Amino acid sequence: MRLWQNPASPFARKVRIVFRESGLLPRTEEINVAVSPVSPNADLARHNPLVKIPALQTDDGTVLYDSSVICEYLDSLNPGAHMLPAGAARWDALRLQSLCDGILDAAVLCRYELAVRPEPYRWNDWVQGQFTKIRSGLDALATEVPSWGSSFGIGQIGAACVLGYLDFRFGDEKWRERAALATWYDSVRQRASVVATTPA
Ligand code: BEZ
Repeated sequence: MRLWQNPASPFARKVRIVFRESGLLPRTEEINVAVSPVSPNADLARHNPLVKIPALQTDDGTVLYDSSVICEYLDSLNPGAHMLPAGAARWDALRLQSLCDGILDAAVLCRYELAVRPEPYRWNDWVQGQFTKIRSGLDALATEVPSWGSSFGIGQIGAACVLGYLDFRFGDEKWRERAALATWYDSVRQRASVVATTPA
């Protein structure tokens, strides 16, 4: 398999953590690509018309995107413990993944707005609107984190990517004021899969 990714992308990180947690890492090659909405990568464009990462080419040549589809595919290959449970618990795991993806969507949009858009064109009210989504999403995570126990499925992987991305790109955001979330993150950030994929 081939995974197009970028070490800074929290969505690619989700997939990279699933590769490591499920023991599938030896079966893939990670290809680093620089991505920007204003200078698309030509190689990636041949495989994903949206020119977005992560994208995964499977062993039969099929290219899968986005991160949630890739994670589901990897989970289907994994003979061991599943990141996505079966039965009723599956819907809760998928909902939690969507909550985390939504927080990440808002955070990545803010990153592009603040780092890529020329300063005269920036729209502060829009950025604040995205931060309102990020903070209400974090409040929701803080409410449910006590129910997670030691689970580390797709929802918790998403949450680790959210908190890691905020530390990486928005170090001033005081998300650790949600103490239960901070305590949880301090334990999962020690996992080998999380350490190996920490953005630098
Ligand atoms: C970033 O540099 O923050 C970033 C890179 C790729 C995708 C998303 C975010």
